[in-house]
Amino acid sequence: MSLWTDFLGNRGRRPIHKWTHYFPIYERHFEPLRNRSVTFLEIGVGGGGSLQMWKRWLGPLAVVVGLDVRPECKGFEEDQIHVRIGEQKDISTLSALVDEFGPFDAIVDDGSHVMADVTASFDYLYPRMATSGVYLVEDMHTSYRRAYGGGLRQEGSFIEYSKALVDRLNAHHIRKGVDPDAFSDETWAMHFYDSVVVFERGPRRPRHAMHSDPS
Ligand SMILES: C[S@@+](CC[C@H](N)C(=O)[O-])C[C@H]1O[C@@H](n2cnc3c(N)ncnc32)[C@H](O)[C@@H]1O
Repeated sequence: MSLWTDFLGNRGRRPIHKWTHYFPIYERHFEPLRNRSVTFLEIGVGGGGSLQMWKRWLGPLAVVVGLDVRPECKGFEEDQIHVRIGEQKDISTLSALVDEFGPFDAIVDDGSHVMADVTASFDYLYPRMATSGVYLVEDMHTSYRRAYGGGLRQEGSFIEYSKALVDRLNAHHIRKGVDPDAFSDETWAMHFYDSVVVFERGPRRPRHAMHSDPS
């Protein structure tokens, strides 16, 4: 069953709050995780329906973890689903999550969408993911909203932060100005969608320019 079909069938269950165009993005990036022993973190539990959706779609081997500031979200725990309570920018909360469940194979940030929170979670969790982990930040239209600390080309918005990460991804080719760092060496790809940014981890291998000569 596709994730979209599962979502459309979510009647009489806990609520899920997603934009429709996110489903092809989820399916593109998370499909390889299905029916594997993976650990999946969603920041922002809401009504608990999305944690159940991930559990159904990922299959019986997945461990699904939710992080939320609201203590009542603890009530959404069930087999395969764990909920921890805390602020997504609080390093001791994030560190405890990684110690207990990490390294995560996938992370979805659907929490406060406040720029400083989104960046703090990303900076702490991304380097501590599985080497082939996928980190997806959604609702990034908030990067353009003042109420969330955003704005067009606003320094500190997560979209601006991500634009700078494109240079760090390519740092090995930049002769002066951006030095390669762990992000350069551990990131395979970045994807920008409407309101969503996805990071795919993967160790950097030596690159060779090769030419095949058909003659
Ligand atoms: C949009 S809802 C999540 C919806 C859910 N992921 C879904 O798809 O149905 C956002 C959630 O983030 C939580 N949240 C807000 N600020 C937070 C913060 N600073 N740290 C952690 N969670 C936060 C809210 O309590 C709320 O449950």
